[in-house]
Amino acid sequence: MISTRVATSGSVVSKRASAQLLKSFSGLTSANTVGLRSSFVLVHQYQPIASGRRNFSNSSNVNIKEFFPKRDTEKVRRTEAAWPHPVYTPEQMNSVVVAHRETKTMSDKVALIAVKVLRYGLDLATGYKHDKAVALNKKDPAAATQKYAMNEQKYMIRNVFLESVAGVPGMVAGMIRHLHSMRRMKRDNGWIETLLEESFNERMHLLTFLKMSEPGPFMRLMVLGAQGVWFNALFFAYLVSPRTVHRFVGYLEEEAVITYTRQIADIDAGRLPKWENLEAPEIAIDYWKMPEGHRSMRDLLLYIRADESKHREVNHTLGNLKQKEDPNPYKSEYKDLTKPHPTKGLEHLRPVGWEREEII
Ligand SMILES: [Fe+2]
Ligand SMILES: [Fe+2]
Repeated sequence: MISTRVATSGSVVSKRASAQLLKSFSGLTSANTVGLRSSFVLVHQYQPIASGRRNFSNSSNVNIKEFFPKRDTEKVRRTEAAWPHPVYTPEQMNSVVVAHRETKTMSDKVALIAVKVLRYGLDLATGYKHDKAVALNKKDPAAATQKYAMNEQKYMIRNVFLESVAGVPGMVAGMIRHLHSMRRMKRDNGWIETLLEESFNERMHLLTFLKMSEPGPFMRLMVLGAQGVWFNALFFAYLVSPRTVHRFVGYLEEEAVITYTRQIADIDAGRLPKWENLEAPEIAIDYWKMPEGHRSMRDLLLYIRADESKHREVNHTLGNLKQKEDPNPYKSEYKDLTKPHPTKGLEHLRPVGWEREEII
């Protein structure tokens, strides 16, 4: 998956779309855009934890502003995340792999086609042309790198946009199940919390990236438009076939794992120099409980990729279950503790999900 130079960085922002998108991320004042040709300005507010340097920033010290600052109040010392994140070990995060679940049913096929259509649309909008990059790389690696290589800014645009839509499905599914439970006066069997927690986790991904970049009005408009369409489409789809939606999210998360794997590989190959010494923002260190010495941008991407792999597993698993009667395997206690079973952490990762007969 990530074997060639361009295969890992094989993505691009088509000229016009990228100009618009890059513009959308521009700082709002000229003082903030000094020296950045593309006007994509990052980290007005980002304060590195240990070094005192402001990585990934072109703005002078006096112009730094806090994008969403902490609010100090008279009586509150700090506010913890309502859903504490499980602790991941480096070994667990490094064991995350790119994977694909083969389609078995008609519903699976519909879900996969929907993901492919969406992916095509997003690639078109953001100019992410992996296949073309790989093809050109075979003929002329230097030209491919020049034409299609991703950089920090392009990846950040993609990450912010993707995370802003990734937080919607869990919230829609959780909300519909919540209303269903009350309306039908039946237990939900523990699915709601896992689904809401997933959308919370995705929002933490977004907030973390927003601590490193400030989207401009065009990007905000795109997110607004996408959310309006996306929420409603998912709402009706989940009413019609929740199983298909979980499978669809599973396939979407397969793509997310690929995207973050490429970014990590690009850092390792030295293609993202601005990210090499970049440290994770405080919000991320607190949320993932990142240990000292493991707080780089690369580490952050490992945590986020591990989260995406968990969403991939959870949604493929939920897509295998009877939606109205089965308990949530991620909130259940198992009779036979000697056998591996689904957990909230990364203990027994199953990239393609658990089959119903294994766990129910
Ligand atoms: Fe995410
Ligand atoms: Fe995700």
